[in-house]
Order: sequence, then C-alpha cells, then structure tokens
Amino acid sequence: MYQPSESSSTSASVDLTALAQNVAHVRRLAPRADVLAVVKANAYGHGAVEITRALQQLAVHRFGVATVDEGVELRRSGIQDAIVVLGATMPAQFPDLVAHWLTPVLYRTDLVSAFAAAVETDTAPYPIHIKVETGMGRLGVEPRELPELISRSELRGPLRLEGLMTHLADADNQDAGQTEEQLARFQLVLNQLQERRLAIPLIHVANSAGIIKYPTSLHSLVRPGIMLYGYHTLSNDTQAPELQPILTWKTTIAHVHTISRGSSVSYNRTFIASRPTRVAVLPVGYADGYNRLLSNRGQVLIGGQRVPVIGRVCMDMTMVDVTDVHGVQVGNEAILIGQQETERITAADLAAWQQTIPYEILCAIGSRVPRRYRPLISPADTAAQTN
Ligand SMILES: Cc1ncc(COP(=O)(O)O)c(C=O)c1O
Repeated sequence: MYQPSESSSTSASVDLTALAQNVAHVRRLAPRADVLAVVKANAYGHGAVEITRALQQLAVHRFGVATVDEGVELRRSGIQDAIVVLGATMPAQFPDLVAHWLTPVLYRTDLVSAFAAAVETDTAPYPIHIKVETGMGRLGVEPRELPELISRSELRGPLRLEGLMTHLADADNQDAGQTEEQLARFQLVLNQLQERRLAIPLIHVANSAGIIKYPTSLHSLVRPGIMLYGYHTLSNDTQAPELQPILTWKTTIAHVHTISRGSSVSYNRTFIASRPTRVAVLPVGYADGYNRLLSNRGQVLIGGQRVPVIGRVCMDMTMVDVTDVHGVQVGNEAILIGQQETERITAADLAAWQQTIPYEILCAIGSRVPRRYRPLISPADTAAQTN
C-alpha cells in the first residue's frame, strides 16, 4: 500500500485522548451495553489499525468492519478481538472470513447453510450474527422468515447464533416516526424469541444517533461509529453530548504571490480578482480528499483567520485569498479541519459547503495524507500534568 512520508507537508493528526472522551460518552449513555466500535472504512478515515489499538486500551474489544478485507487487515496487524463484518459478504468470501476468524452478519436465509458449509467442524461452534430488515430497505431477513431460520439445525451444529441486529435508517432525523416503527418491529421479533426461550447474547440496534437519542434502541450491544470520531448529524435542538472531533487536517503554505485586479486563479478562470490579491497556494487537492466542490466555497484557517478558497480546487493544489491576513509566508500552517487560535473549522462545515455529511468528508481524506497520532493520556496523567 502507498505510504506517505513523514516529511509530507499535508497531514492529519488524530487525538486519541479525545477518542477516549468520546468513548466515555458512549458508555455514559449506554451504561449496560457492551461496545462494538465501528472502524470500517479505515476507521472513517482515521486509520483502522491505530484506532482499534487505542480502543483496545480503552477496554473496547469488539469491532465492526464493512468488508472481509478490512477484517483481515486488522487480523494481520495482530488484533485478536471479535471482529464483525457488518457489510454484505458473498459465499465466495466465506473461506477467507473463516480463516481469519471474522464474524459474519448473515442477511439472507440461504446464507446460513452456505456459511455452515464453509465452517470446518474443528472451528465449530462458529459465531454468527443475523440481521433483520425492519425498515432500512437494505440487507436483512424479513421478520416473518425468522422463526424458520432460528429453528435450523445448523444453529445447533457448526454455527452459534451469537448476535441479532437491525439497523436504523433515520435515527438522526428530527421526525422520530420511522425509527419508532423500526424499533417496534424489532421488539416484536425479540418478543417472539423470548416466547421460544431462545437467548441470544448480543442484541444490537443502536448506531450513534440511536445511542444519543433513543434509549429504547439500547440492548446488550451498541454500534457507535461517527460519535467516536467526534461528530453526529442530529439536529441542533437534540440533547447531545459535547463530542470532540478527533482529527485535525493541516497543510503548509507552499507559495505566496500577488495578482492584480482582473487576473484569474486556477482552471477555467472561475475566480477573477476584484482587487490586488495575495494568493496562498496550498499543496492539497481533490486527490487528497479536499473536494472540488469546495472551489470558491470552502474556507481554511491561516493566521487564526478564516480565508476563502478561490478558484477551482485542483488535483494537488488549492488557492486561498490571504489579502486580509497580515504577514502570511511560505511555510505557515493552514488548517483545513481543526482549530487555530479562536477559530475552528469542522468536518461538519466542509460537509455543509459540499452538501454532504461529515462521514463522507472524513472517509474521503486520501491515502497521500499521513495520519499522526497524539497518544492516549489517561485522566490520571492529565491531572499529573496540570499539577
Ligand atoms: C450496520 C452499521 N452499524 C453501525 C454503524 C455506525 O453508524 P454511525 O456512524 O452513524 O454511528 C454503521 C455505519 O454506517 C453501520 O453500517
């Protein structure tokens, strides 16, 4: 895999102590649930292996990935805890999945026998989770299929039904209608299981929005993703914890020059200077995940001030107008996501400028951008440092 160098002028730093604070919010909101941390998509862009290791230190021992390959990456880095593959897995991938002791989420009835066939008897009983479709319209067995499914002999043979789950489609919406319907449908399923006296150790529904807003979505396991990384997409009037964005994305000014009134910046001349303009050139572009939709729309922090992106974002470079910032020089730091003095730009700001969600902003930060980690400082260490 491509490895960016330590000297790279653009980098992302990830604060693992802030991660710990976000984990504490999950535990406070769901005190009786175990935590399955969602570290798919390279831990939402933060670095799956490093985030998983930090979470292990925080006593999190279950992880969710989207693909078998993501699970294998964690196994190859020595992570031995439970890893659940939350996404779609095809029978052709089952041997690989079993070879790395990953836990599948089976979402169609035929997959149960196909998976049982892939499990060696000496690895049995092999844990599986089953996903129930309650309104996401994506993956999952229908509730009416469940009675037959759970009576299958494979679940007493090579397989062990460790988990039952569903996924909420709309928990971050102000309107609770869809979520309440989904929770009611899932509760009916749980009631049926109880009537049959079938005990499944891990029942899980809640994503971040569920954890924050729906106590009735909390069961024996919760699946936080975005809130671990310091964000949620609930409306401002929701009672939500003070999450801390854990990632700062910065770059270094590569060049500064002045253009005259009427001159243009970048491809297709979409920015024409209306005054003599100091232009700072940043060595970051859409190939790094700084989206082209930020052209003439985004802002970055330089010298503690917000400055606008001017002209088109290029593949490897972005220009900003620093006319109003005193003394800007080559080598100065520019913050794309993070805090500088009293100003702050978050992934939620970038998401608003690009009409998307913070998830996509974080996941899109490219492989050219090295991730650096600020280590975990325990509360005791923090107290010692401030004394
Ligand atoms: C099945 C499943 N569970 C949990 C999550 C975590 O969701 P969030 O990041 O909103 O907490 C995801 C993420 O999309 C998911 O696909």
